[in-house]
Amino acid sequence: MARKVVTEQRVVEKVDYEIRRKSIVKEEPILELNNVEVVYDKYILVLKGLSMSIRRGSITALLGPNGAGKSTTLKAISGLLKLERGEVTRGHIRFNGENIENRDPLTIVRKGIVHVLENRHVFEELTVKENLVAASYLSPTGEVDFDYIYNYFPQLKLRENVRAGYLSGGEQQMLAIARALVAKPKLLLLDEPSLGLAPKVVDELYGIIKRINEEEGITILLVEQNAAVAFEIADYGYIMENGRIVLDGEISELRENEDVKEFYMGLKGSSRKNFRSAKYYKRKKRWY
Ligand SMILES: Nc1ncnc2c1ncn2[C@@H]1O[C@H](COP(=O)(O)OP(=O)(O)O)[C@@H](O)[C@H]1O
Ligand SMILES: [Mg+2]
Repeated sequence: MARKVVTEQRVVEKVDYEIRRKSIVKEEPILELNNVEVVYDKYILVLKGLSMSIRRGSITALLGPNGAGKSTTLKAISGLLKLERGEVTRGHIRFNGENIENRDPLTIVRKGIVHVLENRHVFEELTVKENLVAASYLSPTGEVDFDYIYNYFPQLKLRENVRAGYLSGGEQQMLAIARALVAKPKLLLLDEPSLGLAPKVVDELYGIIKRINEEEGITILLVEQNAAVAFEIADYGYIMENGRIVLDGEISELRENEDVKEFYMGLKGSSRKNFRSAKYYKRKKRWY
């Protein structure tokens, strides 16, 4: 009898959760890119009319081969484009309904968007703790909430006084994400967090990313070349090639898509080879 009550309670909780989730889905998107064009150095056209809509509370994956413009897309959102002589020359980027294209990076951080760059940028000479303190200017309170951060990254707590240069690749990536959490973001932009990490480490890291999304309600835009790992945790996916979105859909749909299976899931670990195959370019046309 008692057992039945517990089960019913669980069912009620699950239904509640589904209702909440559905109402989140109906809300306006947290981020929208509308026909965005990006040019570097006044004439190098990289994004050629990119449109995306990111659901509040989701994990959205942005996939595509090297050079497609994935990092440029994140830099356009976070404002870091400016530091590389890039500019949004057409279209709009709207965050919570407000246009934010071509604003400076600090203004955008203050609005709640934090960008974790490719190649895990940390201060190698500083300890883990000092790295976090160095990010405190991003914090809404000006202080680092260590409990909040170490709850997700207990491994970093153990290594608190170790210089970042001595951490493993996985720990450095954790530190890079932890530094972003100091800002208490609403939207986290992650650029290839799995790059160069062993599969076991990637699993652990992705488990943490998923928890941050679920427990804090932080929306995540995740750039990956490795579709298989992104599909493990994402809700929705966009695939871009050559500065444009060529396909998008719920992850459950993308998983079943023949082109995605062939070119982005690949045979174990050989997806990059597939991108370059001649056949790929022929079949790609079907996506337009
Ligand atoms: N600062 C820059 N100046 C000029 N061209 C750039 C710059 N950054 C990137 N690009 C070019 O933009 C294209 C897309 O790059 P990127 O956004 O880094 O792609 P991805 O992250 O998908 O690999 C590439 O052709 C790259 O050479
Ligand atoms: Mg990139």
